[in-house]
Amino acid sequence: MNTILINNIEEIKKNIKEWKQENTKIGLVPTMGALHKGHASLIETAKKTCDKVVVSVFVNPIQFGPNEDFDKYPRTIENDLELCKKLGVDIVFAPTPKEMYGENTKLSNTELTFVCPPYNLVDCLCGKARPGHFDGVATVVLKLFNIVKPDYAFFGQKDAQQLFILKKMVKDLNIDLTIVPCPIVRETDGLALSSRNTYLSKEERENALTISKALKEIEKLYNSGTVDTNILFDAGFSILNHNIDLEYLEFRDFETFEKIHTARKNTLVAIAAKSGKTRLIDNIILG
Ligand code: PAJ
Repeated sequence: MNTILINNIEEIKKNIKEWKQENTKIGLVPTMGALHKGHASLIETAKKTCDKVVVSVFVNPIQFGPNEDFDKYPRTIENDLELCKKLGVDIVFAPTPKEMYGENTKLSNTELTFVCPPYNLVDCLCGKARPGHFDGVATVVLKLFNIVKPDYAFFGQKDAQQLFILKKMVKDLNIDLTIVPCPIVRETDGLALSSRNTYLSKEERENALTISKALKEIEKLYNSGTVDTNILFDAGFSILNHNIDLEYLEFRDFETFEKIHTARKNTLVAIAAKSGKTRLIDNIILG
């Protein structure tokens, strides 16, 4: 299986044009690289659904805040390419920031066109702590959609707010593709896989484990009939290690994204917390 690495927008567009002439079903898996089994599961699902699969690897500067980890974010393109070859990916698209954003240096909306998702969806959960983050995500993802023109695009439930916002963007902007949500992949002990897990020391990882444990406890209580979110919150909170710095533990309707006080089917229970300096997110959807 030949996996081609392409860094250039015009070059990938040529490949896409040829595929389109042959009526090929194209799948896109957008990533920031440092690929792990979570990303691999998205790629495997894409391989099952599509004739050709493109994986983009791009650490997108416009979705990182000034004090975030853009510079230290793990970049492991050789390993990523190896994994993509094993999984039968057709093209790995790994542009540079200059290729994506041209000579613009400020990378802000004073000189670049941005996509702004609805205020209500970005002014909560991760968007509260990361102003501008989802504008950056929506903008780069729309650019990738325009470059790759996929029929299907695959996103993880791990980033539930991102998934919700991108589905909304596709609907609101009449983008002609299907978003395929993919379940969260976890380590055997429950920790949700993340490229940022590599930042964790042994002790920080132990503490971080209490995030998925808290979610499991909430799910267990809900399944046995508790629906008051105050009670569910307290049960989850009591499980979190006291060295974990909780940013939010919230209950939202995953159809509307509204905050809710009585848990029901399709409730998103989402946590963001710092273990040491590393910000982690995880969630479950109640059934
Ligand atoms: P990144 O964090 O690399 O994630 C790429 C995709 O993999 C996302 O859709 C994310 O939800 C999914 N993913 C990450 N960890 C996962 C896990 N443990 N189980 C299942 N899926 C998982 O999300 C981004 O990059 C960026 O914001 C991006 C969409 C590429 C835009 O820059």
